[in-house]
Amino acid sequence: MTEESAHDGSEFESDVATDGGSDDEGVVRRDRFSGGPARSFLSSLAADERIFAADLEVDRAHTVMLAEQGIIGDDVAGQILTAIDAIEVDGHDSLPDGEDVHEAIETAVIERIGADGGKMHTARSRNDEVATCIRYRLREDVLEAIETTLALRESLVEVAEAHTETIMPGYTHLQPAQPTTMAHWALAYEGAIRRDTERLLEAYGRINESPLGGAAFAGTTFDIDRERVADLLGFERVVENSMDAASSRDFLLETVQALSTHATTLSGLAEDVIIFANRGFVDLADDYSSTSSIMPQKKNPDTLELVRAVAGDAAGGVQGLTTTLKGLPRAYNRDLQRATPHAWETVDAVTEASEVAAGAVATADWNEETLAAAAGEGFSTATGVADLLAANGLPFRTAHELVAIAAERGADYDALEAAAQEVLGESLEAHVDPEAVVNALDPAESVASRDSQGGPAPEAVAPQLESAREALATDEETLADASDALEAARGALRSEVNGYV
Ligand code: ARG
Repeated sequence: MTEESAHDGSEFESDVATDGGSDDEGVVRRDRFSGGPARSFLSSLAADERIFAADLEVDRAHTVMLAEQGIIGDDVAGQILTAIDAIEVDGHDSLPDGEDVHEAIETAVIERIGADGGKMHTARSRNDEVATCIRYRLREDVLEAIETTLALRESLVEVAEAHTETIMPGYTHLQPAQPTTMAHWALAYEGAIRRDTERLLEAYGRINESPLGGAAFAGTTFDIDRERVADLLGFERVVENSMDAASSRDFLLETVQALSTHATTLSGLAEDVIIFANRGFVDLADDYSSTSSIMPQKKNPDTLELVRAVAGDAAGGVQGLTTTLKGLPRAYNRDLQRATPHAWETVDAVTEASEVAAGAVATADWNEETLAAAAGEGFSTATGVADLLAANGLPFRTAHELVAIAAERGADYDALEAAAQEVLGESLEAHVDPEAVVNALDPAESVASRDSQGGPAPEAVAPQLESAREALATDEETLADASDALEAARGALRSEVNGYV
């Protein structure tokens, strides 16, 4: 080590010492964490900027509880809380160097008010502290992600409402399969994204639990009130077992998995719209398109290609997190420090993709004529014709064969008649009203006839639209309630703090 880097290491030290404390305390750790080649490798301070504000809230709630329980004096609590306010104003960048944000904030408090600042870390450890900070911050991030799923659902429902009669080709294997409507297509994605919202809401429920007071993992001798801290921070309940509280990260995994599922849904939606743009079915708004630097005529669906790619980021997040957590023994291990960024990266990427997808869908222009013209391509009404023949008494397998032969020979009424002669040895008219056949060959009629529950016929789409609207309203309310609860907790904590500062 050079002299210079040895000197860098000494920045971790402080001339203010605290009395006592556990083996993972801040400034008191100068003997053990005075620097060295692994110093930056050990430190999460830069990445912890994400939980800086959360940590200050967690510190406030913990300090208030310590004072209420008579574990620290009100005067010391007041000094600590005043220092925390000042540290918040100065911001994360002004924190002293340290192993992580928890240590740096404590050091900053001690630098401001002296050794008594170290009392803020009574009856807790960085292990329960970091778990609480992550949950605190992730709640906000997940609510934001959920909000983007709702915006996307709103966009899709609006497309559906405007296009219950807009006929379009439906595909399987990317081959024209059966005609459907834009509304039916849009509601297919709305249904999937509705479940994505549900999964994120469920994950939210399990994020929203307080580990604070679990301490290093084995609880504490102090007479703390964990429920009170949970309440001050707006958590629904505490994570009961202190070892579970300090060391579990399944809430991260579940959240990232739910985000990854949503990203996968988004990638399919993006791919569809990219294909539709290619076919001229849809014009993306300029805001969501890109041009070529060389080909002047180009308008490319770049935003949706990036949305499609985010599924890869999210799958990477799941993979990174799973393999980091796999085989970790209880209780806390430092590996957990590297687990957290997978969650931040995934939630950021997926939230942005979801928001962009919502905007792209909301502003796209659907070309009804082009869609209708393409709706019948590839003899997409063939299944309807076979269904008609079967409904008129032919075994479905025979009808299927007859229509398959007609498909090879022109896919119109004449081709069907010729196929009937070949397969049945008599005219189609012996089995079915020719007008009904002509109707079945028409894509619009074909769609109108598929009115089974959940089908594309406008009257079958109407109840789907209704349940989409209802579910959206319910989820919007749930989201608003969750955000209000967090806001209320912030306000209530502030009033408590004001009683001391
Ligand atoms: N920076 C650490 C993390 O993110 C905080 C907890 C450190 N605890 C410890 N015992 N070293 O996990």
